Amino acid sequence: MGTIAITGSASGIGASVRRTLENNDMRVIGIDLRDAEVIADLSEKDGRSRAISETLDLCGGVLEGVVTSAGVGPPFDPKKMLSINWFGTADLLVGFHEALSSSSGNARVVAVSSNSTTITPNVPEELIDACLKFDEEKAHTIIEEYSGMTAMALAYAASKTAVARFVRQNAPTDQWARSGIRLNAIAPGATLTPLLQGGLDNQEFGEAIRAMPIPTGEFGTPEVIAKWINTMLSDAADFMCGSVVFVDGGSDALLRPNDWPQSFSM
Ligand code: NAI
Repeated sequence: MGTIAITGSASGIGASVRRTLENNDMRVIGIDLRDAEVIADLSEKDGRSRAISETLDLCGGVLEGVVTSAGVGPPFDPKKMLSINWFGTADLLVGFHEALSSSSGNARVVAVSSNSTTITPNVPEELIDACLKFDEEKAHTIIEEYSGMTAMALAYAASKTAVARFVRQNAPTDQWARSGIRLNAIAPGATLTPLLQGGLDNQEFGEAIRAMPIPTGEFGTPEVIAKWINTMLSDAADFMCGSVVFVDGGSDALLRPNDWPQSFSM
């Protein structure tokens, strides 16, 4: 493996992935607000464009891997959350596609989604749809119809659902699979990082987070999530395409024990 770009490399899960890769002599280009090779604000279109062009300059137009870990969680401005979590993921994946397909047929991408995608009720489909159509203005207008804690929870779940659906929709296409790019997502549950701590420190969200049952008992650690991401960046992912891997201590299984498989008719 050659060069891997990691968004959100300065903290939490992204920083943990970075440490492991560098310990294995891989070259990492970090993209973050601070402490990274590429300093960029992914909440802004200009910041995203600059992140793409500076990363492509640094890697010489060839990337063997991308991890999109930059993200924010509640409490946070819902519109900005949609821009960072979804547009800061999708714009970069599209912008890096050519560099990934230039990597002699074995590039791997791990997009960080969340188990909030399956455990958050009433996420508006039209919001997910606006995200997947790359309509940032419409996504912002839709989330303005909600307020307070509800707006933040829905913006978070919608942004992460759009990430998972982007992976499901694109991974098996010729453009991705046949270009030798393995595009997959990870859906962590509550993992003790500064992002989760920010929620725990807030009275309303703290109560909601603590009320969420975790069958294995404790919050996850960034190191454990990073181990899965590193596996998904390795040749173990050669036959993995469009998977959304839940690593959440069993919360999703507990809440939706019979929701598998989702039936369909032909
Ligand atoms: P973290 O707060 O430790 O790290 C997030 C990183 O994203 C930070 O380095 C931050 O500077 C960067 N970032 C935030 N806004 C940015 C912006 N506008 N432009 C560029 N970089 C920006 O959080 P953590 O927990 O490591 O989160 C990583 C990913 O995992 C996020 O996408 C998050 O939504 C996801 N996730 C986290 C869970 C958790 O419980 N910690 C659970 C499920 C998913």
